[in-house]
Amino acid sequence: MKSEDSKPASGFPITRMRRLRYHPAVRSLVRETKLTPSQMILPLFARPGKGLRQPISSMPPHCQLSVDLIAEEAREAAKLGLGGILLFGIPSEKDGCGSDSYSDNGIVQQAIRAAKEAAPDLLVVTDVCFCEYTSHGHCGIVDDHTGRMDVNNDATLEIIAKQVVSHAQAGADMVAPSGMMDGMIGTIRSALDGAGFHHLPIMSYAAKYASSYYGPFREAAESTPQFGDRRAYQMDPAVAAEQALRECELDLAEGADMLMVKPALAYLDIIRAVHEKFPGVPLAAYNVSGEYSMVKAAAEKGWIDERGVALETLTAIARAGAKIIITYWAKDVAKWLA
Ligand code: PBG
Ligand code: ZN
Repeated sequence: MKSEDSKPASGFPITRMRRLRYHPAVRSLVRETKLTPSQMILPLFARPGKGLRQPISSMPPHCQLSVDLIAEEAREAAKLGLGGILLFGIPSEKDGCGSDSYSDNGIVQQAIRAAKEAAPDLLVVTDVCFCEYTSHGHCGIVDDHTGRMDVNNDATLEIIAKQVVSHAQAGADMVAPSGMMDGMIGTIRSALDGAGFHHLPIMSYAAKYASSYYGPFREAAESTPQFGDRRAYQMDPAVAAEQALRECELDLAEGADMLMVKPALAYLDIIRAVHEKFPGVPLAAYNVSGEYSMVKAAAEKGWIDERGVALETLTAIARAGAKIIITYWAKDVAKWLA
């Protein structure tokens, strides 16, 4: 009466996938993707002032914070066991070349010092770019040498070198360049090495797409381009995944220590491709502002369960291959998992 296939003559299955699911302890045993607070990095926005907590309306409960409150957040992030914080600065004065971004007493330099003083063991990462600091909102120095107003790649590299050294001197533990300029990793590596910071790792926003998911961030960082868009430097979402691999390959050759894919949720295929091609390189993904705001807004309406959706999203990003996740839910994750 025995049949050769997986069904006995009675018609009931021999192989039962549900055996892996009946018992909670078996489910836990076979679950490979586990989130931990130590893999989460929390973005923070520093602005001048004191005791200032300026709500970011599209990303509740996040706020732009004055430097004294950045210190408090750093202390809390450390207490929660987060992997680190990622600092952005919003200066009081913007100009054509974003000079606050490389000033010793610039807003982000003050925030770095305050965070390191409050929480010396917490990893302090800085976003290296110009869009929050320039009056035109672009990620570098703008001119029309190509026949249209656009970011001048090599002129921007010269000031990127200054910015990154000033972050290092203020005490940053790692730098994360996000401007998508060609050659920026090589420039940054040699600037850091030349200033005595051989030991500081670079986390490159290697595959960063021109995305509508950055909308709420641009409110948070006051960095909306005053004309045009970022499509002449950030990647086209419709281009084949292989271009992301080329970006990663170049950045590694120039000295990147870690790679990042951004945004995350709509780019899980890219995360997986980079993870498979460079399995030995630590890979981060940026779960960006729009990914966060969509869930927040739906949850406020009672349409979706925030905790469930957030943890499922972050699990998917980790499962795709990003073991480091930059997320506005970082503190919540630590509390949810506790
Ligand atoms: C700046 C930068 C951006 C983000 C991180 N760094 C915005 C942009 O490129 O316009 C987006 C982060 C987010 O949406 O959460 N270059
Ligand atoms: Zn930028």
